[in-house]
Amino acid sequence: MAVHRALAGICLLGLLLCLSSSPAARAASKPDYLILTLMWPGSYCASTQLTEKCCKPTNGEPAADFLVQALETYDSTTGKPVTGCSRSCDFKILPLVNMLDDLYTYYANLTCPSNSGMPHWKDVWCTYGTCSSLNQSLYFDRALRLREKVKPLVNLGSSGIIPHATKSYSLEDINDALVPRIGFSFTVVCTRNYILWPFFYDDYLSQIRVCVSSDGRSIIGCPNGRESNCGDTVKFPPVSYPVSSTVIELPSGDEMAL
Ligand SMILES: *[C@@H]1O[C@H](CO)[C@@H](O)[C@H](O)[C@H]1NC(C)=O
Ligand SMILES: *[C@@H]1O[C@H](CO)[C@@H](O)[C@H](O)[C@H]1NC(C)=O
Repeated sequence: MAVHRALAGICLLGLLLCLSSSPAARAASKPDYLILTLMWPGSYCASTQLTEKCCKPTNGEPAADFLVQALETYDSTTGKPVTGCSRSCDFKILPLVNMLDDLYTYYANLTCPSNSGMPHWKDVWCTYGTCSSLNQSLYFDRALRLREKVKPLVNLGSSGIIPHATKSYSLEDINDALVPRIGFSFTVVCTRNYILWPFFYDDYLSQIRVCVSSDGRSIIGCPNGRESNCGDTVKFPPVSYPVSSTVIELPSGDEMAL
């Protein structure tokens, strides 16, 4: 009898722990800020880590500029991304119709084989977008507008940091060029390309990650500190997209009318 009571007590305690911990766990993974990732196509296409290099998208012309790669949902308590909030993810093209041209230009996906970018947009929406407080059209619109706001290429350029095939820039100068314009709200991310492993390598500027308020409206100081993975000197190569070798089918009149 005593044993039964003790067991019942343990079960009850377990149940209570279970009940009381689940709302707390849910609250802890509430996304309260966003990180906008802008990628530099010059470095992506120059990376020696890619076996297939980069591929030109099937639709539109990607800009020779920083491109949106993602707008991720983060929890400042844990410092971790919050993902997959909707079990069945619904991605529609209709809410994006008005901004398709801009998406093709500034949210292009350069992964091979050549693609329209849509599979990537769907992936980003289903992974992060559904965790945000925004609906689909607003979520993509905000990403595009934020890119405009950050405009790293213009801001770097006005400090003399211009894409160059052989030149290296100091990470400090890159940071110094961005801080007066967007504050301490970003991290510069590099890809390391080895010339002779592990001694000789070049760090290429691959991404600028910017912290953003949860409504996607404003650039904010990053709630969780993040260190750049770049060395002291950074390469910033010009963008040269591959000439597409495949014949691209032009969209039919119906598709153009979308
Ligand atoms: C392209 O799309 C794939 C699939 O969604 C994704 O894994 C990759 O990170 C994307 N690349 C860029 C540069 O956005
Ligand atoms: C998305 O949200 C905005 C702001 O709340 C609203 O104005 C807009 O109509 C919504 N769009 C859709 C397709 O629901």
